[in-house]
Parts: sequence; structure tokens; C-alpha cells
Amino acid sequence: MADQSPQIFRGLRGVYADTTTSSFIDGEVGKLLYRGYNIHDLAEKSTFEEIVYLLLYGELPTKPQLAEIDGTLRASRSLPSEVIDVLKVVKDSHPMDALRTAVSVLGCVDPERDDNSVEATRRKGIRITAQVPTIVTAHHRIRSGQDPVDPDPGLNHAGNFLYMLFGERPTEEEMKLMDVDFIIHAEHGSNASSFAARVAASTVSDLHSAVVTGVGVLKGPWHGGAAEAVMKMALDIGTPENAEAYARNIIDNGGRIMGFGHRVYKAEDPRAGHMRDRSESLSRQKGQPQWFQILSHLEREVMRPYQAKGIYVNVDFWAGSIYYLLGIPDDLFVPIFAVGRIPGWTLQCMEQYEDNIIIRPLTEYVGPMDLEYVPIEDRG
Ligand code: ACO
Repeated sequence: MADQSPQIFRGLRGVYADTTTSSFIDGEVGKLLYRGYNIHDLAEKSTFEEIVYLLLYGELPTKPQLAEIDGTLRASRSLPSEVIDVLKVVKDSHPMDALRTAVSVLGCVDPERDDNSVEATRRKGIRITAQVPTIVTAHHRIRSGQDPVDPDPGLNHAGNFLYMLFGERPTEEEMKLMDVDFIIHAEHGSNASSFAARVAASTVSDLHSAVVTGVGVLKGPWHGGAAEAVMKMALDIGTPENAEAYARNIIDNGGRIMGFGHRVYKAEDPRAGHMRDRSESLSRQKGQPQWFQILSHLEREVMRPYQAKGIYVNVDFWAGSIYYLLGIPDDLFVPIFAVGRIPGWTLQCMEQYEDNIIIRPLTEYVGPMDLEYVPIEDRG
């Protein structure tokens, strides 16, 4: 008799679940396009506001279109009082847990919460994009015993984020660093958190619920939590000479080196290079070259042999060192990823709503069959 077992693609590896016009990834050569545009052009020449428009409308904006979306983003940054109240209640929790909770509250009070049309979803996505930086920074200020800083409509998205975090206007260079960081995190196809957000949308649940799902999935150290773990690792390693023994010990014990490897990229993640050079110059400027030296040694020497297995640095490897050098606490690294990723999650949900099918794969049952139910008083 022929084998009746279904073919199983564990982790859905290599499975195409749908089509998309959001982003194109060629993992073999390390190529990434948003809506057809190369990430290298976008990271070097564009702005996060332009990327929000590109992702949510499908084309680069004209000057008036850019001015309009930028104005809407700047005008949508403040939070309903209910969100601030809840942030005070959860002030001692991890910032990702606080963010997940706060987005959920936003969903309870959003004026269009029950409207899942593509137009309303886009408007909600723009609002959430504007509000998430305010949530992350307000929670951080509250837990530090400080008052939240009101958004400054005179600053762009990246500059305003840093301003609300530190209460001081950032330099042009700091703003540019954050802007590039948000651009390279904005969208990435069917990654775990975007896929999870799509699953939520496929039940015709609302965008806020999908974003709550995305935040929960992004939090894990095998996904967005890697940047925080990379910087912890660099601090543990301490000096470049210790890197080899440190990494060897992790790998020999079956562990993974954070910031390396990717489900899709088997060449260098094209986003990583945009952070590498910036990490190097910031390390020098801040008089702390050791972090770049440790990470660079890890990449160029210790992990080089693993390139033959397709394990290269990913986007999170260099990002953590930049946040650290900017003075950002390490538990805010993954919320920063979420700040950048809201447009991507929104786009994935819009696509799902536009041509919906519920996402519901199968798992092969391998447990016992047809067991006899024994009443509890008769069980040994
Ligand atoms: N360090 C050491 N070994 C690794 C690493 C790593 N970082 N990543 C993968 N490997 C090993 C695997 O253990 C596996 O070994 P095996 O063949 O002996 O079993 C082999 O390389 C192949 O692994 P993949 O199948 O390519 O990895 P998978 O797709 O299952 O996982 C993942 C991808 C989760 C990203 C993994 O590389 C990892 O855990 N990396 C560290 C965490 C990290 O940096 N995450 C951020 C990813 S980027 C992002 O989410 C934005």
C-alpha cells in the first residue's frame, strides 16, 4: 500500500501561502525590494515618511502626497488618555508587553475600530504608525519616574521619537540614523510577525488585533528580540579576544549566535550593511570603539566558516550597537523594530482583506487513536 503520510513542511519552510506586491526577497543573493524599489536606494535616498506612503499606496509619493501623509503622521501622534492610564498600570513590565497592551487599548477606542475596509485599515495603519513611538517613549518615561514628553510636530518621525525618548532635540546625524533604521525595518514579506498579523486579518479581525499579534510574535529572541540579545552578547564578551571562545561555547552546546542566520537569506541580509558602517563611525565618535571591534571580529573571523552553511549576519546584528551607542536602553531595541514595522504589518493586512481566504494549515496527528474513556474514579 502506498504511504498515506502527508508531506510536512515544518515551520512552513519553503511554502508559498499567497502572492504579494509588498516586497521581493531573493535570499540566495541577498536582494530586497519594497514595492519594486531596491532597499539600498531607499535606505540611502528616501525617508521613513516616504516609505510609509510607498508601502501603503503602492507607489512613491509626489511632493504634495508626501506633504499630506507627513502632516497626517505628525498630527496623529498624541495618545488617548486611556492609553496613558494603562501605561501607568503596566509601567514595570517589559516595554514590548506594555506596547502590546497599549495597542490593544488603542483598538478599543479607535473611531474606526469596526471598519475593516482597505481605506479605513490604511487610515488606522497611519494612525498606529504615528502613535506607537509615543507609546514606547511614554512608557519608558513613566517607568523612569518622568513625565511623557509631548510630540513635537516640528520634527520628523525619527527625530520626534528620539526627542520624546530623551526630552532633547537630537542631532541631524542621530535623526538620520533612526530614519534609516526605521526604513530598513519597515517591511519584510512573510516573516513570522507579518504572517501572524495576516493570520489575524484572515479571520476578518481588525487591524489593531493584527498589530497586537504582530507585536507578540516580534518579541521573541529568534525574531525581533535578537538586537537586544546581540548587544548583551557583546557586553558579555567584553574584548575581541574573548569572542572566539564565547561563540564556540554557545555553538558546542547547541545554541545559536544572535544576529546570525535567517530563514530566507543564505547570503548577507541586504539591510545589515546599512547599519555596519554607521555603527563603526558612531563607535568612534562616542569613544567606544570596542563594541564595533567585538562585533566585527565575531562577523569577520569567528563566524566566517559558517557562511558556507548560509549563516551570515542579519539586520539585527548591527542595529543593537547603534541603539546602545545612542544611549537607548536594551529592552527598547525590539519596540524600536516594532515602530518601524507598523507600515509593513498594515500593508500585509490590507492585502489579506483585499482578497481574503482564512489561513488555516493542517498538522498531521501522530498521537494514539480511539482510546477508551475511563471514568476518573476508575483511573489508577
Ligand atoms: N548560530 C548558530 N547556528 C545557527 C544559527 C545561529 N545564529 N542560525 C542557524 N544556525 C544553524 C541551525 O542550528 C541549523 O543547524 P543544523 O543544520 O545543524 O540543524 C542550520 O544553521 C540551519 O539553520 P536554518 O534552517 O537556516 O535556520 P532557521 O530557518 O530554522 O532559523 C533563525 C532562522 C531563527 C533566524 C536562526 O538563524 C536563528 O535562530 N538566528 C539567531 C536569532 C536571530 O538573529 N534572529 C533574527 C532573525 S532576523 C529577524 O527576525 C528580523
